[in-house]
Amino acid sequence: MSRGGRPADFPALARDRDRLPPVYLDSACMSLVPRPVLRAMEEYYRDYPGCAGRSLHRFSEEVSRRFEGARRAFARYLGRSDPRGIVFLRNATEAIHQVGEGLRWKRGERVLISDREHNSNLILWQRLARERGIRIEVLPLREDGAFDPEELERHLVPSVRLVSLFHTSNLDGRSLPVREITERAHDRGALVLIDGCQAAPHERPELDRIGIDFYALSAHKMLGPSGVGVLAGRPEVLEDLRPLVVGGETVEWSTLTDHALRPAPHRFEAGLQNYAGVLGAHAGLDYLEAVGLDEVRARELRVNRRVSAAFAGDPRVRRWGPEDPQDRPSIFAFSLEGVDPHDAAIFLDEGHGVMVRSGMHCVHSFYAARGLPGNLRASFYLYNGADDADALVRGVRELLERVGDRRISGTSAGTAALPSRRASGRPHAAGSTGVAARSAPPPRRAAPGRAASGAGSG
Ligand code: ALA
Repeated sequence: MSRGGRPADFPALARDRDRLPPVYLDSACMSLVPRPVLRAMEEYYRDYPGCAGRSLHRFSEEVSRRFEGARRAFARYLGRSDPRGIVFLRNATEAIHQVGEGLRWKRGERVLISDREHNSNLILWQRLARERGIRIEVLPLREDGAFDPEELERHLVPSVRLVSLFHTSNLDGRSLPVREITERAHDRGALVLIDGCQAAPHERPELDRIGIDFYALSAHKMLGPSGVGVLAGRPEVLEDLRPLVVGGETVEWSTLTDHALRPAPHRFEAGLQNYAGVLGAHAGLDYLEAVGLDEVRARELRVNRRVSAAFAGDPRVRRWGPEDPQDRPSIFAFSLEGVDPHDAAIFLDEGHGVMVRSGMHCVHSFYAARGLPGNLRASFYLYNGADDADALVRGVRELLERVGDRRISGTSAGTAALPSRRASGRPHAAGSTGVAARSAPPPRRAAPGRAASGAGSG
């Protein structure tokens, strides 16, 4: 029996007498934090609040030792034998930037991305195209997200310098075959950068074995705090990158006119670091490993199967991505016929305590290309169980029942027919169309009126 992964370990899941019990199904955006992570961060500030690698007193020595311990732990987890390849940054977005901005591009060289990348693996390339003359090559995936090796071969043209793809899609939870992609890219002389945000919380990426050059992740999706990311690079390729930021700790020496950079990883970690965050991220990793990746996968798959089975065959619930939950274990992406996704998300939260994400999930390009307003996404992690699946199913069914015949399709026109009783003071989220869900008040106790959370169209 594995230890950990119990909802009781996660203070955010504590029941509050005045509110519905939280059903957290948004771990693809941000996972919850278990007590050992909170403890590790508090301990840092309480017991050894020093700056690593600088002073020689006991606080500093302690935090240096623990900070390097965290680096070794991430290296082990990711399958990178050399911890010098582990660079701590703010998040995966910054890690991707470090690679993109740090490569010494020649005009006309290309980056190959897929047609459904998160904005963090898209906007940067558009900017580099404008500012440095790189070109963007787009690898189309099949409509259900499946990878086509022939398309990859077609798009791996000689000028592709970097292949930059997600590992697991934040839209539908489907993974790309990164080993095959890496082999094919290397055969053509291209480097490989993988956005591992949605994969690393659920599986070990085995970086050395696969030979991935750069891997980016965010600790806040794997039980750690926000504000900590990792760029796991092969130390040899890291040496060729120009650091995004330089300053304290990045140099061997400096004079008024010159300096020499330290080797990786230190040349990329300028200024005082987020020590508490990194130590918290390490505690999160320990927790995850104590539960065990097989167990994590089994738990989320069980929840996903239960949700998927409940909605299978219901024409009003359109599932996105592959049919078999095995191919998208951590995500159930869906849309509801005639119901605006933001309205549905608010209804589920206020009426059933179910927290899902709605909108375009920072992949606007995917929805824009199809003229779609967004959808809903339930994402699962090691603290979710059958009760959470049932709460989601109950909430969705009740919403559909309430909307009933007054269904509308991507327009607010039909909502005129609904009673205009707003469930809360929450302004309509940007990009939203219908107001069906909020026109029908939540069935049970509604949360007090809230201001817009900024869910918007992201
Ligand atoms: N990439 C994160 C998500 O998909 C923010 O929710």
